[in-house]
Amino acid sequence: MSTEPTHLTPPEFAAMKARGEKIVMVTAYDTPGARLADEAGVDIVFVGDSAANNVLGYDGTTPISMDEMVMLARAARRGTHRAFFLVDMPLGSFQVSDEEAVRNAVRFVKDAGAEGVKLEGGGSSAARARAIVAAGIPVMGHIGLTPQSASMLGGLKAQGRTAAKARQLYADAQALQAAGCFAIVLEAVPARVALRISESLRIPTIGIGAGRDCDGQVLVWHDLLGITEGVTPRFVKRYANLAAETRQALETFTAEVRSGAFPADEHTYKIPESELALFESELDSGVMAGDASGDWF
Ligand code: KIV
Repeated sequence: MSTEPTHLTPPEFAAMKARGEKIVMVTAYDTPGARLADEAGVDIVFVGDSAANNVLGYDGTTPISMDEMVMLARAARRGTHRAFFLVDMPLGSFQVSDEEAVRNAVRFVKDAGAEGVKLEGGGSSAARARAIVAAGIPVMGHIGLTPQSASMLGGLKAQGRTAAKARQLYADAQALQAAGCFAIVLEAVPARVALRISESLRIPTIGIGAGRDCDGQVLVWHDLLGITEGVTPRFVKRYANLAAETRQALETFTAEVRSGAFPADEHTYKIPESELALFESELDSGVMAGDASGDWF
């Protein structure tokens, strides 16, 4: 695992907020994806537990395990050189106790090269965040729509749309900051509520469906690139249409193999004519005949 220092560290994110510079975060789940994001200049490469549905084919984020997250994170780490490298704590990895939360966060650092972890929730999650920060690992909070507890929230829908719920989000954000979090994701929160929360904090907010006044924005790889098909949340903007382009490429490959159009001459290796002639004369003279019936294979 590389120990090269990355350019970006949590104190820089607070400084970016102070300077009014937006922070850019994107999920990535493998080496080429992380490398492309890093080279594009994003500030935070994030292995989200959204890998569960986007990469591993689960129905939601809750089934993904620590082992699966570590494997994906190790791959993404190999592509990340400049950006801050952040890994999500999956359901079950931090809820039970501070000790278990610290143990799993340390595992991400040691086994996958994580430079920080993200965990969902306010309330008891603030205590977990405090424990992980005390172990020397930077923590990003995540409030609003927290998919790991979607059923408690009544489904995957916007949060903080009543004064009481907005007040709770505000209080959770203060608690996460007090616990030592270096940033907080606000997911599916009304823009006006996100603005008031962002203004109240020293640490940056990273919005996903929380309006333009957050201090940064995050999108999920498959949503941003148009790999996700069908209905997406209203906060998704597609910057490419890779599902259609990929399907088109695969259909063309299939057709060209079947028609013989692929491979063409330029995809084919050559042997010098003299060597070929020698080879063919050996075949024609029967020198190889014994081999064909022997145990060559
Ligand atoms: O897992 C994930 O992709 C996330 C983002 C939505 C922030 O938590």
